[in-house]
Amino acid sequence: MKKVKKAIIPAAGYGTRFLPATKALPKEMLPIINKPTIQYIVEEAVAAGIEDIIIITGKPKRAIEDHFDKNYELEAELEQKGKLDLLEKVRQASNLANIYYVRQKEMAGLGDAILTAKSFIGDEAFAVLLGDDIVVNDGLTATKQLIEQHEKTGTSIVGVQRVADDATHRYGIIDPAGGRDRLYEVNSFVEKPAAGTAPSNLAILGRYLLTPGIFKHLEKRQVGAGGEIQLTDAIQMLNKEEKVFAYDFEGRRYDVGETDGFVKTTIDFALQSELKDDLVLYLREKLAELEK
Ligand code: G1P
Repeated sequence: MKKVKKAIIPAAGYGTRFLPATKALPKEMLPIINKPTIQYIVEEAVAAGIEDIIIITGKPKRAIEDHFDKNYELEAELEQKGKLDLLEKVRQASNLANIYYVRQKEMAGLGDAILTAKSFIGDEAFAVLLGDDIVVNDGLTATKQLIEQHEKTGTSIVGVQRVADDATHRYGIIDPAGGRDRLYEVNSFVEKPAAGTAPSNLAILGRYLLTPGIFKHLEKRQVGAGGEIQLTDAIQMLNKEEKVFAYDFEGRRYDVGETDGFVKTTIDFALQSELKDDLVLYLREKLAELEK
C-alpha cells in the first residue's frame, strides 16, 4: 500500500466566534500561548509522516502564508543579537513540511473546501485535519493512529470520540454497527443531528483518513445541514460503496473553535509550561477573590 503523504487542512472559515479578532486575521493564527493553533495541526500531520500539506484558505490568508514562510529580516536580526532560541522557533515553522495554498472561492461548506484540493490529492489516500480540534497525545498522534488503521483495512477511517449527550447536535455523529479495539463499522454518518435524535454520542472530531473515492460524492455538491455541502454526507455516500470505518482515537482533545474552549486550552497549556508556577499562584488569588 502506498504511504500516506498528503494532508488537507481547511482554514477558510470566517471565525465568527472570534470577531473582531478574526476580521483581518484567520482564526487559525490565534495563538495558544505563543504558537498559532494551525502550527499545532501542521506539527501533528508532520509527526504522522505527512510531507505535503495543502491549506484551504479564505479571504485573510496572508498571515498563514507568512507564518510558514521564511522571514529573512527577522532571522538576521535574531542571529545578530544572539537570540538563538528564538531564531530556532522562528525557523521551525518554515521548515516543517511542503505547504501549498488554495483559496476556497465561496464559503459553501467543509465538503466544498475539501473538493477544492482534488487535483492536489490525485489518486491517493490522504488525511484531513480540522483546526478547531487540537489533540494531545503521549503516544501516536491522532492522524498517525488513523493512518495505521487505514494500513490495516485499506479503507477510509473517520476519527471519533465520545462527547456529552447534550453536545451531539454540534458534530457529525456515527451510528456504529459494532466493532472492537476501537474500530467500528458504521451504519450511517449524520451531520449535526437535531437535539435528542443522535444515533450515538460518538462524534467525528476533526481527523479523517480518506480514499480518493470521496471526491465523486463531493462533486454531487449535495446541500446538507446548514445549507452547506457537508463532508459527512459525502462520507455517508462513500460508506455505501466502499466501507468507511470509524476509529475511536486516543488522545486528549481540546476544542479551540469556541471561545470558552480556547480560553480553557490556553490555561491548560500554560499549566503544562514554564508559566505554571506563576499561573497557579495567580489563579489561587483569583479564586480566593471570587469566594470572598
Ligand atoms: C465540522 C464537521 C463535523 C465535525 C466537526 C468537528 O463541523 O462538519 O462533522 O464533527 O467539524 O469539529 P463544524 O465544526 O465545522 O461546523
